[in-house]
Amino acid sequence: MKYDIKNFTLDEKVRLLAGKDVWHTEDLDGKVYKVKVSDGPVGLRTPNFSGEWGGKSIPAVSFPSTQVLSQTWSPSLAYRTGEMLADECIERDVDLLLAPGINVKRLPQCGRNFEYVSEDPYLSGIFGREYIKGVQDHHIGTSLKHYCVNNQENSRLSQSSELDERTLREIYTYNFKIALEAKPWTVMSSYNAVNGVKVSQHKKLNDMLREDLGFDGLIMSDWGAVDDHVASVKSGLDLEMPYKKENYETLLAAVKSGEVTEEELDARCIKVLELCERCESEKKLQKVESTVEERREAAQRVAEEGIVLLKNNGILPLADGASVSVIGDGATKNISGGGSSRVELDHNVPTLPEELKAHLPASAISHVEFYGGKISRCITNAYGKDAAIVCVDQIDTEGTDRDSIRLSARLEECIIETARLNPNTIVVLYHGSVIDMTAWEDKVAAIVSVGYPGEKGNAALAKILSGKVNPSGKTTETYPMTADDCLANRCHRTFCHSVYSDGLLVGYRWYDTAKYMGKESEAKVLYPFGYGLSYSTFEYSELAITDNGENISVEFDVTNTSERDGAECAQVYYRVPTSAVFRPYKELCGFEKKLVGADKTEHYTVTVPKEYLAYYSTATDKWEIEQGDYEIIVGASCEDVRLTGKIEI
Ligand code: GLC
Repeated sequence: MKYDIKNFTLDEKVRLLAGKDVWHTEDLDGKVYKVKVSDGPVGLRTPNFSGEWGGKSIPAVSFPSTQVLSQTWSPSLAYRTGEMLADECIERDVDLLLAPGINVKRLPQCGRNFEYVSEDPYLSGIFGREYIKGVQDHHIGTSLKHYCVNNQENSRLSQSSELDERTLREIYTYNFKIALEAKPWTVMSSYNAVNGVKVSQHKKLNDMLREDLGFDGLIMSDWGAVDDHVASVKSGLDLEMPYKKENYETLLAAVKSGEVTEEELDARCIKVLELCERCESEKKLQKVESTVEERREAAQRVAEEGIVLLKNNGILPLADGASVSVIGDGATKNISGGGSSRVELDHNVPTLPEELKAHLPASAISHVEFYGGKISRCITNAYGKDAAIVCVDQIDTEGTDRDSIRLSARLEECIIETARLNPNTIVVLYHGSVIDMTAWEDKVAAIVSVGYPGEKGNAALAKILSGKVNPSGKTTETYPMTADDCLANRCHRTFCHSVYSDGLLVGYRWYDTAKYMGKESEAKVLYPFGYGLSYSTFEYSELAITDNGENISVEFDVTNTSERDGAECAQVYYRVPTSAVFRPYKELCGFEKKLVGADKTEHYTVTVPKEYLAYYSTATDKWEIEQGDYEIIVGASCEDVRLTGKIEI
């Protein structure tokens, strides 16, 4: 190693354990390489690197949210996004990107769901892993975040997540277990506490990260997440971000008094020095390989594949020449969520009507805004048109959860009134997480979920609405009927405690199990996990399951029974009917998405490592793969089961 710990004084070692300022590690006046870090998961967001909080961020390419990326069900696009962001970092001398965020979506109202992958930990891990590989293959570091059980924004600095060992292992750190296969240079620990102890000073969780999950990089705190720097250092946290003078002083005193031993101090310093050395040496290998235009093309590709067609009575795709009214105020400009992941642009984003005109040249397209004007004026514009597109948005942001998962009354009224005047009303949602649509879903002809689609979102959406692109996105979070249908919302939660008595039953794991237990009324959802419509239709056949020792392969055919080429994501779930332990009804263990030509058949092969079928035994404190019969369930969605088979392990 270039930096020998023996060449550093006690004071220098203490200084190394906290950032120099908001965006840099300590360099001891040039004695050590200064690492520059920057948010965020969907584009560079860093106020001009002045080192202070706040300030206008540098402009950068704005990618679709991680929610939209996950809805592509194409991990290769997570890799591609990582590659593009690495180039953005290289051009701005950033050494390490504070991403990806992969926390499990336990609460539909969580303000940061747009920044995360899914309610399913396996899918979250796969997307996190491929994203990390994409960034780090270009010699830029990542910070896998936020470790762990950080599933709400309300009172995030003080709230303690209370959960049992199996739930911790099989749900809330299983995503990290898979993502860590990509060996991120750092992991970011979260603001919250777990079972009463702040994660930034949680020795058991830090030990678990290193000893059980195999992480050998640096653990940094979330910004301002360290309360007690002495306890943090002793728990195994390596780097406090950003620098806090009082923490430095207490730590220095603690080292001098022997409360923190020299070897504890050195163990943490070595991690920091290793990161500094790694960033310095990797920097020499960096090479920008993409142009800004190619990055924007990649962003558009993600949006085209990640936008989800939730409902369509046949009105979509729009025919050229159709008269179209687009109603909605700034919604179409709402391209990213709020908080540390927000990206600033140095140009205007074309609105949806502007993008539509390019694809429907013979169509009369009008656009009316809500601003100021009475909603009734907007709606009359929809009267008599072949289609009325109502653009609505939901502003989600880091730091706060939504009080309700319904749209505002004003937006619901606009949808309902427009649908009353025009049966061909299409709702386009610019949103960060699932929405309760019970007030209007049955009144409209079509619904398109655009998420926060990034700067090329409207370009992608226009191609989908006009049929130039066949939608292939599928949900990665269940749309419940209402927020209260979510089991987690019926668990005890106060300002400072969230009791995870829903246990393993997060997302579809609950709704499936409720159905299996005969609780039909509780099992009903608006749109299930893994659901999304296409302009094509697909049939599945020829299921064959083989045991290859380390893994099983699940093979089947998918036929496109329409005249239009289309991509189809097939999901593979497993079930253990005679399990010795309690398990959710079924769990995702594989998936594949392929382009299937019109009237063509494609052969799918999904390889499932047997370790993905294991449960965590609190009797042996090990992952166990049960012997016996496993049911393999192949679905176009979690609910739309197409093929089932059995295999004995
Ligand atoms: C924020 C976020 C974290 C971000 C960091 C730096 O509070 O929780 O995701 O990377 O601070 O902005």
